[in-house]
Amino acid sequence: MFASTQQRAEGEAMTTRILQINASLFGEQGQSSQLNAYLVERLSAHGHSVVTKRDLAAQPLPHLSGDTLAAIGTSPDARTSEQANSAALADAVIDELKAADVLVLAAPMYNFNVPSTVKAWMDYVARAGVTFQYTADGPQGLLSGKTAYITATRGGIHRGKPSDTQTDFVTTFLNFIGITDIHWVYAEGINMGDHKETALASAKATIDQLVSVKE
Ligand SMILES: Cc1cc2nc3c(=O)[nH]c(=O)nc-3n(C[C@H](O)[C@H](O)[C@H](O)COP(=O)(O)O)c2cc1C
Repeated sequence: MFASTQQRAEGEAMTTRILQINASLFGEQGQSSQLNAYLVERLSAHGHSVVTKRDLAAQPLPHLSGDTLAAIGTSPDARTSEQANSAALADAVIDELKAADVLVLAAPMYNFNVPSTVKAWMDYVARAGVTFQYTADGPQGLLSGKTAYITATRGGIHRGKPSDTQTDFVTTFLNFIGITDIHWVYAEGINMGDHKETALASAKATIDQLVSVKE
């Protein structure tokens, strides 16, 4: 389905495929959505980029179910129409990520972790034999060569504390599927009065710095 790396290098050398995943309950007004938009704008400023956007808050994926797993495990020509729809959605989520060079993922903190919609997305993304595999030496991620930016927006301040349950979790997950070039953009203390403006300005400065290094 996808052009090989070599074909893409020859035919679309200047195209960067960006997968933007939003997850804020506040839609485009959400702080992580705004930081994602700024990041994508900065990443797209040079060269040619193609952006695929998925809003997990506006269109949440259903929880991964036994029925969906069964649908994925059934050969395409033996699927019921319901199974075909489930498998098509599950495949689309993975295909979007496989096709991307860059992942821009929102991680607003809701009740001490990523939104459940982001966890649901992860449940679809992790598929044995497709995005990871187990070898004699342990798990091996199959989505290498990608860069990820995570916009972590938080009402309080958690970085470096036990309450930061997101950083290790998301990093571990992305590493598991082979994404190791990960850059975090934190905006903390958003609900702490005038801390907000400083936090957002600092997050944008981090984005500027990250993008200038990549240019
Ligand atoms: C349902 C909900 C749960 C939240 N839980 C936390 C939390 O556990 N810790 C925290 O620091 N902030 C928490 N907040 C504050 C958000 O992290 C903060 O509003 C942040 O800006 C959310 O990102 P967003 O604007 O992109 O949605 C919560 C906000 C909401 C709406």
